[in-house]
Amino acid sequence: MKNVVVVGAQWGDEGKGKVVDILAPHFDIVARYQGGHNAGHTVRIGDRKFILRLIPSGILHEECSCVIGNGVVVDPRAFNAELQELREMGVECEGRLVVSSRAHLILPYHVALDRAREERLGVNSVGTTMRGIGPAYEDKASRCGIRAGDLLYPDLLREKIRSNIKEKNLELVSMGAEPVAPDSTLDEFLVEALRLKPFIRDTAMMIDTATRDGKSVLIEGAQGTMLDVDHGTYPFVTSSNATAGGAATGLGLAPKKITGALGIAKAYTTRVGGGPFPTELLDEHGAYLQKRGNEYGAVTGRPRRTGWLDATVVRYAVMLNGFDALALTKLDVLDEFDEINISTGYRCRGELLEGMPYGANVLAECEPVYETLPGWKATTSRTTNFDELPPAAKDYIRRVEELCGAPIALISTGPDRTETIIREGSPLSAWMK
Ligand code: IMP
Repeated sequence: MKNVVVVGAQWGDEGKGKVVDILAPHFDIVARYQGGHNAGHTVRIGDRKFILRLIPSGILHEECSCVIGNGVVVDPRAFNAELQELREMGVECEGRLVVSSRAHLILPYHVALDRAREERLGVNSVGTTMRGIGPAYEDKASRCGIRAGDLLYPDLLREKIRSNIKEKNLELVSMGAEPVAPDSTLDEFLVEALRLKPFIRDTAMMIDTATRDGKSVLIEGAQGTMLDVDHGTYPFVTSSNATAGGAATGLGLAPKKITGALGIAKAYTTRVGGGPFPTELLDEHGAYLQKRGNEYGAVTGRPRRTGWLDATVVRYAVMLNGFDALALTKLDVLDEFDEINISTGYRCRGELLEGMPYGANVLAECEPVYETLPGWKATTSRTTNFDELPPAAKDYIRRVEELCGAPIALISTGPDRTETIIREGSPLSAWMK
């Protein structure tokens, strides 16, 4: 049995798309288990660039089947647009892509509520992607959500949506926002949503049958550990369980069937949106990382905040997700630094902390404790062999392994599939057999 989950070890945008793309040919199914089109997984193949938001990155491999699991929230308009974009790039999804009947749908009122709440919060806003993600998960938890399977029962569906619109409009108006127009909202939504019907399946059952038949599943996380609704920097988080545990509930896959976990960490740290970020660099080094690393959100285009690698964050992610190994991405972005810092812990209210403190308010008061390593001042771009890396780059990688408590099995040295080092004898090389 080989079912491996890939999870971001920081605040998202670690480069999961590229790593999933490398692993996908060695798996039969690629499945998403949480999040929605707030994710942006960039895959570069030669001079072509694909940005996948909702559809698993495995779709770029003809031999892979792709699953959008019950834990994902699906905006039908975004789904249809992504299908169309892929079609225009020569990638056909029909027959290879299924959506769980239990996946909740994002409706226009979720988007309106997301915006209204963020506006009301003002300077304390979460900095969401404004895609309606949080409000859709709220409806799931409060048991008034609309699920993909409801599309098979149109009369009941209309009734439920009409009743929801009434309630949501009261809420929107109470926040001083525009209500949504009941009739046109419903009609326009249904036009988009009903196009999902041919994709809807009982995906938990499908995955169960496939795994019993010896097929393997690559489970693609979105966002990252620090954005997990339970374990992240709450309330500056997304509204789902991005950590590996979410893969079991988000797919209906029994936890004991998940046989491996791979964490993806950038060689430095980035974050989009609000919330604490102890190693953030607001100086010329931060600006350099942003420019050289092209750190702009794949979904919203927002500039990402940048900072040094925070080993406390990655160590915490190793603990929560049980990573067998890590993939370290964007090593080449550090090529020109004279010295490189890694935060090994935090100092907070005069105390030295080793673990992740509770709550965003405490983390906001934490000062990183840095260890400084010499830079390698040489190009690692496009290197594909670990032995060919400059000695100081190898030392940096070994130190990250020690501090974070997991072996680094893959090192990304550029955006293309080919600009990758895969270390022999690592769990990753075993998954690629
Ligand atoms: P939401 O998921 O749109 O509700 O946004 C909640 C928080 O998660 C915000 O800080 C977003 O910037 C962040 N976020 C959501 N999706 C991603 C992602 O794919 N990468 C990085 N940050 C994300």
